[in-house]
Amino acid sequence: MTSIVRDQWYVAAYGHEIAPRDGGGGTAFGRTICGEPISFWRTSGGEVTAMSDRCVHRRFPLSQAPSRLVADTVVCGYHGFTYGADGVCVAVPGQTRVPRSARLRRYPVVELDGFVWVFIGDPDRADAGSVPRAPWLALEGWTTVCGMEPLAARASLLVDNLLDLSHETYLHGGYIGTPEVAETPITVDVDEQAGTLRVSRHMADAGCPPFYARSTGITERITRWQDIEFTPPCLYRLHSRVAPVGVEPNADGSDPDGFHVKVVYAITPETETSTHDFWAVARDFALDDTSVSDYLRESNRTVVRQDVTALDVLERVLASEPDGYQELSIDIDTGSLAARRLIARLADAPIDSDR
Ligand code: FES
Ligand SMILES: [Fe+2]
Repeated sequence: MTSIVRDQWYVAAYGHEIAPRDGGGGTAFGRTICGEPISFWRTSGGEVTAMSDRCVHRRFPLSQAPSRLVADTVVCGYHGFTYGADGVCVAVPGQTRVPRSARLRRYPVVELDGFVWVFIGDPDRADAGSVPRAPWLALEGWTTVCGMEPLAARASLLVDNLLDLSHETYLHGGYIGTPEVAETPITVDVDEQAGTLRVSRHMADAGCPPFYARSTGITERITRWQDIEFTPPCLYRLHSRVAPVGVEPNADGSDPDGFHVKVVYAITPETETSTHDFWAVARDFALDDTSVSDYLRESNRTVVRQDVTALDVLERVLASEPDGYQELSIDIDTGSLAARRLIARLADAPIDSDR
């Protein structure tokens, strides 16, 4: 049984990964989402179009050279079948009649907040208004660094990982982890109607890890808030606030002396057992300081790779074990267990207690 929620928007790419068509040529961008190979390209008007990455003739990938883009069509590199932006074949070699069935499956696409979202599943259920938001990534007053790491592990392992940040203390010590993260209890709040989840950990007096010391310049101990907002199955935002110990927001909610970071993850299944791990870090300070951007990009990439290494190991462990083993969960797992329940509800599947 699949564990992937199918009638769902997923992040397929950053907008900047799909090149503008200034010269009219180029090659489509290919990526497998939820087991489906998809090619993406921009029309001359700049809109992203998404369609099956397999030519209907002999299945050659349309994102792979010598397949190429010509004006607002994609020409298969094997025998020249040519498709428009609507996926309909407009020309075949050696005959004028184009078979009526010569059309590629199209996918609904929305470009928002710097992400290209694609709808997998029944296109009639694609409501562009339901795409979850991460506005800071494209908002004035914020500076963002981002990347994507391929994960050779199922998406549920990344959900578990992100919803239980106690692992920062152990897996990311020296980067973002300090003892206080694992020591401080969490609160979990599920919005059953919206199907969303919040997990909060507020540390009143904590060590300042290098990730924040080097980016903010704070050298003493900090008040550190981690407020996670998760829209299952695929968009995770960590609202992080750091300030010198005792510095709180004002009563009206303004917070001029706090440093704010939004850590955004888009969790997109590539297959049942591999995942695209999109990560972005947006900050509201040192906006034009490229050394801070360089540091946060490298540091966060290192942190993500530490997770990737651990989760790749876990995937191999799971694959080698018989079904039905019993996990042991404790208080720190409350957030990830709630996320599993919400995702199972979306998938209309039993709760994945043994994955
Ligand atoms: S495989 Fe595409 S034209 Fe033959
Ligand atoms: Fe991590």
